[in-house]
Amino acid sequence: MDDITKPAKRDRTSTVGRGKAITRAAPLDDEHWQNDLVTVSFGDSLQHYEKWETPTCIVSDGAYGVLGFEGDTSDHTGIPEWYEPHIAAWSSRATAQTTLWFWNSEIGWAAAHPILEKYGWRYVNANIWNKGKGHIAGNVNTSKIRRFPVTTEVCVQYVMEARVQGAPLREWLIGEWARSGLPRRAANTACGVKDAAARKYLDKGHLWYFPPPEMFEKLQAYANEHGNPAGRPYFSLDGVSPGMADDWAKMRSKFKCPYGVTNVWERPALRGSERFSVPGGKAVHLNQKPLDLMSQIIEATTDTGDVVWEPFGGLFSACVAAHRLGRRAYSAEIDPTYFHFGLERLRSEGLQHLLL
Ligand SMILES: C[S@@+](CC[C@H](N)C(=O)[O-])C[C@H]1O[C@@H](n2cnc3c(N)ncnc32)[C@H](O)[C@@H]1O
Repeated sequence: MDDITKPAKRDRTSTVGRGKAITRAAPLDDEHWQNDLVTVSFGDSLQHYEKWETPTCIVSDGAYGVLGFEGDTSDHTGIPEWYEPHIAAWSSRATAQTTLWFWNSEIGWAAAHPILEKYGWRYVNANIWNKGKGHIAGNVNTSKIRRFPVTTEVCVQYVMEARVQGAPLREWLIGEWARSGLPRRAANTACGVKDAAARKYLDKGHLWYFPPPEMFEKLQAYANEHGNPAGRPYFSLDGVSPGMADDWAKMRSKFKCPYGVTNVWERPALRGSERFSVPGGKAVHLNQKPLDLMSQIIEATTDTGDVVWEPFGGLFSACVAAHRLGRRAYSAEIDPTYFHFGLERLRSEGLQHLLL
């Protein structure tokens, strides 16, 4: 194999942002701010993760490979390297209940996906934000760009794969049942159903379902009573005591889908007063995300009082949404101009609540 030469490492992509509408020269008054629910800091989020409480939900809206901000890369080839330290840090702090929402362009996400998988994030669903034709408003010269005009972004749902004794849940569950020496169909007797338990909870492929806590308890009780005595305990999460239904319930991420929501989110790009602007009307951050979409993903995957991380703050849209929903939130922003205006936005949020 010696005669095969490795391809030359690509030159690093440029990281000089081109998307900045406003730059503020004055030094920051505050580098840290918090209220009853939200804590934000100026600086690199990599320096702050350690201080943040365990996240139930992480909303990532960082580099897109489009030079969208100072430090973004100039194309998707720089994306894996850009995200890897962040993804590693998120994994080290996530639990089996944590959902990651990864906003990006389609190709940016494709480039990041192998890194997300490498650090234990399991792909769940790709959601498409369709901004509609209004987003391009006939301004695109298709014979010049030679492709269909893009009006979408993705927001991809990942969960942290739960493991027991090193095995992913499905394998562990199937392995425990096999270890008990009981036939597969006895799982139906254990759960008091005709065939659904063996079919769903012991399926080796994509038809596998997470047993609800009450079913987990039934499988466990049956295996310990009727299984080979030599192998007890069965279905013990710590290998010693019987697994509890409450502990089992925490072995997966939270999710509740509002009626009628699908994976295509038809929602125009931010317009007019939705954009946080300086007096005179100039929008501060060109990457600001809609609050309704941020609220939708946070509400679907957290409960009141849970912790949301927004690693790449911008104008802190996820923090604003989290605050309105009664969740706690942590964020950092590395650019002093964005941090300053992000704080202004958070402060004005607080004021709105006082006025209500
Ligand atoms: C796409 S924008 C986020 C916009 C935000 N979602 C909003 O709605 O306002 C990404 C932001 O992350 C910031 N950023 C980039 N690297 C960072 C880092 N290591 N730590 C903290 N912020 C960072 C950039 O300055 C930029 O403002």
